Amino acid sequence: MITFDVGHPNPHRRFDQALSEIPGSIRLSEIISALSYALDLTEGQPMGHSVRACMIGMRLAQQVGMSVDEQAELYYALLLKDAGCSSNASRLFHILNADEIKAKGDLKTKDWTRIGWESLHYALTHVATGMPFLQRMQRLFQVAATQQQDSCTLVKIRCERGSSIAKQLGFSEAVANGIYNLDEHWNGRGYPDGLRKHEIPTFSRIANLAQTLDVFYNAYGPVEAIHAAQKRSGRWFDPDLVKAATSLANSGILWHELENANLVQKVAALEPKRHQVTANDESIDKICEAFAEVIDAKSPFTYRHSHGVAAAAVEIGEWFGMSPESVKFLRRAALLHDIGKLSVPNSILEKPAKLTGAEWQIVKAHPYYTLEILKKIPGFARLSKDAAAHHEKLDGSGYWQGLKGEQLSTFARILAVADIFDALHAKRPYRDGIPLEIVFQMLRQDAPHALDLPCVEALVASKSNSEPIAFGKPETAVAT
Ligand SMILES: [Fe+2]
Ligand SMILES: [Fe+2]
Repeated sequence: MITFDVGHPNPHRRFDQALSEIPGSIRLSEIISALSYALDLTEGQPMGHSVRACMIGMRLAQQVGMSVDEQAELYYALLLKDAGCSSNASRLFHILNADEIKAKGDLKTKDWTRIGWESLHYALTHVATGMPFLQRMQRLFQVAATQQQDSCTLVKIRCERGSSIAKQLGFSEAVANGIYNLDEHWNGRGYPDGLRKHEIPTFSRIANLAQTLDVFYNAYGPVEAIHAAQKRSGRWFDPDLVKAATSLANSGILWHELENANLVQKVAALEPKRHQVTANDESIDKICEAFAEVIDAKSPFTYRHSHGVAAAAVEIGEWFGMSPESVKFLRRAALLHDIGKLSVPNSILEKPAKLTGAEWQIVKAHPYYTLEILKKIPGFARLSKDAAAHHEKLDGSGYWQGLKGEQLSTFARILAVADIFDALHAKRPYRDGIPLEIVFQMLRQDAPHALDLPCVEALVASKSNSEPIAFGKPETAVAT
């Protein structure tokens, strides 16, 4: 373990500062509602969609007289309804050969169960959009031939994953089932099991209607939203719930405060009071781990990346002799550092060729989304900045803000090294992991001008199980 003397120029003496702003208590609902913004990105919805769907769904539940105990469970089924969304992104991209986030987003306003101009237009505008005409037509026919089976498979992957994440987080079977059956339709033509009418759990019926109301409300306004629900009443939706929605819309309650700037606080107020839970260390860690899995499930190219970065960051932190409290926050920042990557379509993440300038700009925006999502969690302001700085470099050559030198905290410097380490060393579908010695050479080539040398050397030493070398003498280390 290293101890730094007082006169040492390295910046890592400051690391415990990060803990001063953590509040005594954070509600479980505040963390989950903030992180649900990441699920919205993958679904191609405006951020806040899951929270707004939760507000609408809770109002529907009250209107139909659901018990408070059930409302408390429905609340989390609504917030986590899209928890499995990243698990089918890669597969959908390979089926469509186009931007799957746009396809998912646009699908929400289409009645794809009716064969007609609407579904044909959808296919024409979302399948193999960048391909030459003949290849595109070929792909369209292939998609049409397997559409039924593919839709079922895609929904199944998504709902199985979503319900398993809910269970992993400790929620009840009712919450998990509500998520699992989200895409079932009242007339039995939904997926994955073709359940009909009251065979579909109430939570799923409410969540499906609530999400559709929010999507149409955002895209076309309140009148069109109710119109869309009424048009699909008895086919997609429970007619009694559509009547309840109509009545709430007529009295103005349904849309109340959906456009409020502080949705996380607004939705927190709708959780039944006697069921409100304060998050403890164990539950916060569980949530971070579960969302790391959501992030990593987006693409086989990033399989286990968040966990890999967390492991490397913890090694560096512990090598520096950080307090267990600091290491705990560092690990959370590492697990969630790429949460903004859920905004990047797999058509870019898995593109086999060089990215265009526009595509590269989309990739470069992902740490911005990390910041936007994580800063919504009370007490995560500092952590969100550190996590969002994982692609910044000491010489200002990184992205997205071009921060440099002293602007980069210890956590940010550690995350930058851990991120590159895992990206190089982890096995990927297209290559084996790069051997440790070569990864170390590559990291050292970038230190101290771009990467923090003490962080690089701490990782090398920790992985090599030996004493770190050349601390405080970066010039010597670079020369080796
Ligand atoms: Fe990243
Ligand atoms: Fe990363």
